Amino acid sequence: MKSITSYTSDYLVIEGGHRLVGKVRISGSKNASLPIMMSSLLTDDVCYIEDVPDLLDVRSTIELLQVFNAEVSYHQGKLRLDASKIKSFIAPDYIVRRMRASVLAMGPLLGRFGKAVVAMPGGCSIGVRAIDQHLKVFERGGARINVQHGYVHLEVDKIKPVEYTFEVVTVTGTENALMFLSRCEKRSILRNIAIEPEVMDLVEVLRSMGVSIEIDGRTAIVRGSRELKGFAHRVIPDRIEAGTFLVAGFITGGDIELENVRVDHLGSVIEKLREAGACVEVSSDRIRVYSNGGGIKPLSISTSEYPGFPTDMQAQFTSMCCLAEGLSEITENIFENRFQHVAELQRMGADIHIRGRTAFIKGVKKLTGAEVFSTDLRASASLVLAGLVAEGKTVVRDIYHLDRGYERLDEKLKSLGAPVERHSITDVI
Ligand code: EPU
Repeated sequence: MKSITSYTSDYLVIEGGHRLVGKVRISGSKNASLPIMMSSLLTDDVCYIEDVPDLLDVRSTIELLQVFNAEVSYHQGKLRLDASKIKSFIAPDYIVRRMRASVLAMGPLLGRFGKAVVAMPGGCSIGVRAIDQHLKVFERGGARINVQHGYVHLEVDKIKPVEYTFEVVTVTGTENALMFLSRCEKRSILRNIAIEPEVMDLVEVLRSMGVSIEIDGRTAIVRGSRELKGFAHRVIPDRIEAGTFLVAGFITGGDIELENVRVDHLGSVIEKLREAGACVEVSSDRIRVYSNGGGIKPLSISTSEYPGFPTDMQAQFTSMCCLAEGLSEITENIFENRFQHVAELQRMGADIHIRGRTAFIKGVKKLTGAEVFSTDLRASASLVLAGLVAEGKTVVRDIYHLDRGYERLDEKLKSLGAPVERHSITDVI
């Protein structure tokens, strides 16, 4: 067990066994907000973004933009960004280490100013997470790339049009490529792109800035411009936050309604929930989930790129399957090390075996509360879910990870009737 001094942030105490009932508003999407914030670097004009969630990753992105000397104001989900006086092109190590998505500064800085210096992101707790595909697009576009003293130095004189087929489908790689090529006037073709809703939200923003982007399946044809306009945009609702609440509503035997959702972004998640026995009713921007008391059926899930089942929902479904009536199989195909929540769930009584990329989960009658550790963002969410249904008290440590990507999760759960308390690192329980 860790000593108190080795904990790094706040913790949650959850009393399990309460049904969630009521309505909850889903926040704007984290993974849409971050690249859209970075795209403001492409123009001299002021840009406005609405419904930006108040999260550590958003705060880190604001800090990074300010390091470049952008003017940023943020109030009640509304961002005003002015990148007309950029002076620095260096994304420092202390911010990149905190937030990998800092690599999204490369595309717009290189596109607009012809230079960018970004600390090498390295691996993270869920996998190696290479950026070779990002760099290959920049290279094809004429960039010179050097890695020195832990930093990637990128420079380009005049951007050449690019024709590139991504060797792996990459979300931030596609976003970086689109932002970079937005400043190239000639026609570029990108094949095997990511088509996640967050990428499409960025595409909408880039189009409103004056970039021509045609998407056909996984192919994008981009014709950029040297003069891009400012934009005003409202980000899409967070489909992963929505999915997490759907699981919470179902496994607690509750009845909750989600407001501000895009049902069309949640197809594979809703399908798997229904297969597990959840009652899911959808209307234009709302989803109701409840249980008919029939228990949880085991599932077979394989994560893949959108529109497949999202890797960012894998941990939450793993928690759910711990209580299913039978054997579930969950295969993680996107990241090679995304089962760290399993060891923590086992401490709560889960029966899970991992072989290769697959978790075999034998449903148990109950989970019991324990002290568990967050290792990454979605793993933390899965532990909170397990805590909601476990017998007794669960302490989820190091929720710094949770705060990176879920806006006020504890408060939202409380408003639905879950006894969840946030404690500061120095509180003694
Ligand atoms: N990959 C490469 N080379 C590259 C880029 C990616 O080999 O140049 C590999 C990765 O190592 C990984 C796979 O391709 O195995 C997919 O990675 P991708 O680049 O798509 O991930 P990402 O862009 O770094 C985004 C989200 C993640 C989400 C993944 C997959 C943001 C800021 N992050 O990461 O979100 O899991 O796409 O959908 O958009 C989260 O929110 O918790 C989170 C981790």
